[in-house]
Amino acid sequence: MAKTYKSIALFSALLMGTGAALAGGPVDDKLVIDGEMEIQTRVAAPEGHPFDEIISGWHYRTEETRALEADSFQNPGMLYVERGEEIWNTVDGDAGKSCASCHEDAGEFLKGLGASYPKWNADAGKPFNIELQINQCREKNMQAKPYKFDAADQKALTTYIKHQSIGMPVEVDLTQGDMQAWWDKGKELYYTRTGQLNLACASCHEDYNGKYIRADHLSQGNVNGFPTYRLKQSEMVSLHNRFRGCIRDTRAEFPAAFSDDLMALEVYVTWRGSGLGVETPAVRQ
Ligand code: HEC
Ligand code: HEC
Repeated sequence: MAKTYKSIALFSALLMGTGAALAGGPVDDKLVIDGEMEIQTRVAAPEGHPFDEIISGWHYRTEETRALEADSFQNPGMLYVERGEEIWNTVDGDAGKSCASCHEDAGEFLKGLGASYPKWNADAGKPFNIELQINQCREKNMQAKPYKFDAADQKALTTYIKHQSIGMPVEVDLTQGDMQAWWDKGKELYYTRTGQLNLACASCHEDYNGKYIRADHLSQGNVNGFPTYRLKQSEMVSLHNRFRGCIRDTRAEFPAAFSDDLMALEVYVTWRGSGLGVETPAVRQ
C-alpha cells in the first residue's frame, strides 16, 4: 500500500500539466513529405483497439520537429537511408555476396516488406523483425557475422529497408504460425506495471496520452517511424532501444534486445499502429 502510494506520488511529480495548465493533445496538421507524398498519420482503429483513432507520434511533436520530417533534404535520418543502400550493395562475408546479389531488384523486392514486419519465421519458430531477418541472411546466405545489437550498419540497413515502404500502411499478419499467441503475450506485458514507479506502457501511452511528462508530450507510442532519428541523441534509435529506454524510465530492469519479451511487445505494439503509414526515418525529440 505504502509503496503504491509512493510510486503514484513520484509519477505525479513527473507529470506536468495534469491540471488545466497544459491542454496538450495531438496537433491538427498533415504530414506531406516534400510537398508530394501525404502520409496517413491518423486512421480509424480496428475492432478491439483501445483507441477510436490511431495517431502517429508526429502529431505530438513541435512544429520545427514536424517540419524536419516533412523535408527529406533536412531530415537527418535520410543519411542513414543512403548509408543503408551502400551496405545493401556491398559484398561481405565468405560467400562473396551482397544483399543485392540475391535480391536483385531492391525497389521491387523491398516495397511493402518493411510494413509487414514483424513476421512469422517458421524455421526459428518465432516472429522476426527486420533486424533478425538481416542477421539470418548474413549468417546463412552470406556467411558473414550477424550484427551486434544497435551496430551502426544494422541501424542503417534497417532504416533503408523500412524506408522502401514509406507511406504504405503498417499491417502485421497475425494468422501466420503462432503470431496470435505472441500478440497475447505482448498485450499482457503492455498492461503489466513494473519498476519502482509501478507503471505499465499503458499508464503513459494510454492513460496519460496527450499529457506532458517532464518536457515530453506523451503520444500513443506507435512504431511506424522506426528506426527513428532522435534530436536529443543526434542519431538513429532502433525500436528495441526505445522500448528499453521506456522501461528504464519506470526504473525497472529492461529485457535484452530481441528477447521474447521485446519481440512479443513489438508484435503487439505494431498491431496497435495498424494502418498508419510507414514514416521511417521519422524525426522525434
Ligand atoms: C545467397 C542469397 C542471399 C543473400 C546474399 C541475402 N539473402 Fe535475403 N534471402 C535469401 C533467401 C533464400 C530468403 C528466403 C529464406 C530465408 O529467410 O532465408 C531471403 C529472405 C530475405 C528477406 C525476407 C523476405 C520476406 O519475404 O519477408 C529479407 C528482408 C532479406 N532476405 C534481406 C536480405 C538482406 C538485407 C541481405 C543482406 C544483408 C540479404 N537478404 C542477403 C537469400 C539471400
Ligand atoms: C513513464 C512513462 C512511459 C512509459 C511507462 C512508457 N513510455 Fe514509451 N514513451 C514515453 C515518452 C515520454 C516518449 C516520448 C514521447 C512520446 O512519443 O510519447 C515515449 C515514446 C515511445 C515510443 C516512440 C513513439 C514515436 O512516435 O516515436 C514508443 C514506440 C514507446 N514509447 C513504446 C513504449 C512501450 C512499448 C512501453 C512499455 C514497455 C512504454 N513506451 C512505456 C514515456 C513512457
